Amino acid sequence: MEFKRSIVITGGAGFIGSHVVRLFVNKYPEYKIINLDKLTYAGNLANLKDIESAPNYRFVKMDICDFEAFYQLMQDEHIDGIIHLAAESHVDRSIKDPFTFARTNVMGTLSLLQAAKLYWESLPERYEGKRFYHISTDEVYGALELTHPEGKANDFSAHEVYGDDFFVETTKYNPHSPYSASKASSDHFVRAFHDTYGMPTVVTNCSNNYGPYQFPEKLIPLFINNIRHRKPLPVYGKGENVRDWLYVEDHARAIDLIFHEGKVAETYNIGGFNEWKNIDIIKVVINTVDRLLGRKEGEDMDLITYVTDRAGHDLRYAIDSRKLKAELGWEPCLQFEEGIEKTVKWYLENQEWMDNITSGEYEKYYEEMYADR
Ligand code: NAD
Ligand code: DAU
Repeated sequence: MEFKRSIVITGGAGFIGSHVVRLFVNKYPEYKIINLDKLTYAGNLANLKDIESAPNYRFVKMDICDFEAFYQLMQDEHIDGIIHLAAESHVDRSIKDPFTFARTNVMGTLSLLQAAKLYWESLPERYEGKRFYHISTDEVYGALELTHPEGKANDFSAHEVYGDDFFVETTKYNPHSPYSASKASSDHFVRAFHDTYGMPTVVTNCSNNYGPYQFPEKLIPLFINNIRHRKPLPVYGKGENVRDWLYVEDHARAIDLIFHEGKVAETYNIGGFNEWKNIDIIKVVINTVDRLLGRKEGEDMDLITYVTDRAGHDLRYAIDSRKLKAELGWEPCLQFEEGIEKTVKWYLENQEWMDNITSGEYEKYYEEMYADR
């Protein structure tokens, strides 16, 4: 079958990547979608069971650092678009093992860029009709102060009330963790390939995602599972850090829109003006899990356990995504209450998915990783 486009999505077996792959495979039967993933501890093909036999889908197990293999794939599949999500993504792991983050996030991204450059420059049309889309994070901007009350869900006029204390696309990079430093470096490489070689790149920086298929080392799925099993909930520091939460399918929709309509060499912030203090979101999650399990709402509050803070813990992230709304018309579809309800329900109804990850080896790893807290 002849396809109109041939697109590689890296990290497609991970949390956000699996939502992007599903969206593209279902929405664009005329595109060939190649999910390229090394299947690290965070990659899980069970995330894509529903689309794995679609005629426009192919899975390739590959390390993004393998330049030769990727260059060959570009040629074999006539790749004209790359949506790059593969990364080491967990801040706590980056504190223990920064080398792995530099290798994958920096060298891996550079390897993809260089292979794409060589292949696209070898074609008569060169960069025409091509796109290299790099998915990044709000963490590259550093941390903000606590200047206003959190919880302004989907309120695009928050800045009018609370001033301009948000990350905008021109905020100076100031990463603090090895994870965010590695993502910042990869962002710079992507922009350098546009400025130096004319590669049609685009970069987006998104806030914290939540939703189905997130690896249960991240706050929301970890806590849902712990509440279910009545295990302690390790809250770092005082629980006062603020994160800006976006439902993962809203992020995937933004990626689709920007891949197709975003301007070359631009940066777009993605976020839903939905800030929450950790401790407040944790209480919402406890109440929701309790209610959906038929327990008395709030009866598991005593699982909250304050533990040693994360080293270099960024105080607050908050994304201003007005540019994306003004230029491309994107805004989140889901209100937070609806999103968190859907999310908790999904994890409770998909216990087997969770058990397959958390049983055996992973449990041992988690205990060792967090032994000093
Ligand atoms: P994830 O950890 O759930 O998934 C990462 C995926 O990348 C996994 O499938 C893994 O197997 C794959 N991978 C890792 N190293 C690889 C390598 N060397 N070669 C090939 N594949 C490799 O991550 P996520 O939370 O879905 O994040 C995806 C992207 O979005 C990352 O680039 C992350 O920085 C960015 N991001 C995440 C969030 C968030 O809240 N989760 C927010 C903003 C941006
Ligand atoms: O902002 C975008 C980023 O969001 C992404 O780039 C990262 O890939 C993603 O992992 C996420 O980073 P965070 O560090 O914000 O997410 P995490 O779920 O690890 O933690 C959310 C907050 O909860 C943070 O302030 C730390 C705190 N926390 C986390 C865990 C796992 C706890 O208090 N206890 C925990 O056990």
